[in-house]
Amino acid sequence: MEAERNTGIECAKSLIDRLAAVHTLELEEYEQLISAQNSETAAYAAKKADFFRKKIYGTDVFIRGLIEVGSCCKNDCLYCGIRNSNVNAERYVLTEEQILDCCREGYALGFRTFVLQGGEGVLTVEKICRIVKEIRSGFPDCAITLSLGEYSRGDYLKMFESGADRYLLRHETADSAHYQKLHPLKMSFENRMRCLKDLKEIGFQVGCGFMVGSPMQTTAMLAKDLKFIEEFSPDMCGIGPFIPHKDTPFAKFPAGSVEQTCFLLSLIRLIKPNILLPSTTALGTIDPKGREKGILAGANVVMPNLSPVAVRKKYSLYDNKICTGDESAQCLKCLNGRLNAIGFQTVTSRGDIKR
Ligand code: 5AD
Ligand code: FES
Repeated sequence: MEAERNTGIECAKSLIDRLAAVHTLELEEYEQLISAQNSETAAYAAKKADFFRKKIYGTDVFIRGLIEVGSCCKNDCLYCGIRNSNVNAERYVLTEEQILDCCREGYALGFRTFVLQGGEGVLTVEKICRIVKEIRSGFPDCAITLSLGEYSRGDYLKMFESGADRYLLRHETADSAHYQKLHPLKMSFENRMRCLKDLKEIGFQVGCGFMVGSPMQTTAMLAKDLKFIEEFSPDMCGIGPFIPHKDTPFAKFPAGSVEQTCFLLSLIRLIKPNILLPSTTALGTIDPKGREKGILAGANVVMPNLSPVAVRKKYSLYDNKICTGDESAQCLKCLNGRLNAIGFQTVTSRGDIKR
């Protein structure tokens, strides 16, 4: 029994070695590796991930100012607290002036990337383009990231031509049957993939990503997520644990684990050493030291909240989200202290991917 366990661990370590050397594995090997997660294999992967991250980015951690532009959403993703059919969700939309105020505050604090995130359809394409142009002219040295859901190729092109640099659209799961279990019928895996492809072809720096431990997820599905990341080769990848929200159909499902999220962060770093990899707020929500653990596993980005304090609680994708009561300046200070304590520091720069 003990001997079998040891062979399993040795096998996993040799897969990790190979991944670190050639940055690719077969689908079945990814699955084998994910199944072999324990404290020993995770520490082994984290050490190699740390090596690549330090070689490319040193101990710098990029900061992205997250502006939650609105909680209205036309979609009905089964996991999400701001889904359209949640009648308890409080809805708001920031005005253009409020969004620009967030940018001004963020700029003074040292942010050089602003991420405009919101429910799908919360802003019209015209309004998105207008705001992007204003941020572009007011803050020419900043990167503008959009995270506003699915649009047509033509609309994405308009956003890009207005001056947006990056787009985050998590693929949520690379298994189409699983995708359908997490989303209502009118959403489709094919369209999500079409969006990601269009965004990339248009010239955006693109981020995909998925939830760890989402309902009905299996190891085989996570292996597909890793294979997808390997093949799609995104510039950024956002992963965080699934956390149930009380007013959704998935309220009774358990949350994903910190350990599995961190292990996957390490593997993603090994698949694509220069990727921009956030240690997410969701990770900090399920564990008080979650964000530090994510950084130590190989992440190199944090996304503190720049939204007006008055609306923060309303942007509730999952229960018990952290940092909803704090001023942006406090959040940044807190995060910097936490990072310093583990040997890292936040930096004032756009934080583009190093090629
Ligand atoms: N738990 C964790 N992450 C969630 N997201 C949405 N709902 C939840 C939840 N309940 C993530 C999705 C989405 C991103 C903006 O937030 O992956 O793409
Ligand atoms: Fe809003 Fe999913 S419920 S994008």
